[in-house]
Amino acid sequence: MIQLFHLFKDFGPNVALRDINLRILKGEFVFVTGPSGAGKTTLLRLIFGSERPTSGQILINAINLNRISRSNLDRLRRKVGFVFQDFKLLPQKTVFENVALSLEVIGERRSFVRKKTHQSLRLVNLAEKEQAYPLSLSGGEQQRVAIARAIVKDPLILLADEPTGNLDADLTKDIFTLFRDIHQKGTTVVVATHSQELFEDSGQRTIVLKQGKIVEEK
Ligand SMILES: Nc1ncnc2c1ncn2[C@@H]1O[C@H](COP(=O)(O)OP(=O)(O)OP(=O)(O)O)[C@@H](O)[C@H]1O
Ligand SMILES: [Mg+2]
Repeated sequence: MIQLFHLFKDFGPNVALRDINLRILKGEFVFVTGPSGAGKTTLLRLIFGSERPTSGQILINAINLNRISRSNLDRLRRKVGFVFQDFKLLPQKTVFENVALSLEVIGERRSFVRKKTHQSLRLVNLAEKEQAYPLSLSGGEQQRVAIARAIVKDPLILLADEPTGNLDADLTKDIFTLFRDIHQKGTTVVVATHSQELFEDSGQRTIVLKQGKIVEEK
């Protein structure tokens, strides 16, 4: 489902990723961990196609991102949900509108958009905040809106960048349970996180990055 071959990414003199080789199968649940600056966000962005590698190949569902056309990339994005580390919620839109937009941009019918948006916000326990604006929410609530927005389109692949960075222990557990449920439905899930408690004892595959290299796989 996701294949990376000899992937390098530089930002000028900064080398963010060096020679990453990785294969994530359909339906896998994988954690990517490592210290700040290790390259976790960069790796997810490359998989999402929002950043291009300096060299190397990325295959998503056997499609090579180096050769993909703009319209095919858009089509692929419909199948990939991304929870951004900094949420990227639109402040002038309500919680409901933020989540609904994910479906509107891919041309879904209004009744379907409404139904799925309610459903997704219920899943993250934010049904009562639908009409609120993001800036009136706590960090944890904003994070859950970002998760609702990523899962509303029933993605084949869910990429989540520090999805529990702003949550207390209880909510972290809830979100993790939610990811497990999504995974159970067949979604491939890749979570980048510092939080050890999220994956310790989980038995999930864990990839450890350090200075842009995979240094360990558990
Ligand atoms: N747009 C950019 N321009 C320049 N350097 C960048 C850019 N994005 C990332 N980097 C550099 O690439 C390296 C990896 O960054 P990245 O954000 O992927 O790390 P991370 O593991 O997600 O860190 P954190 O845990 O703090 O989120 C860092 O040295 C960072 O400074
Ligand atoms: Mg990061």
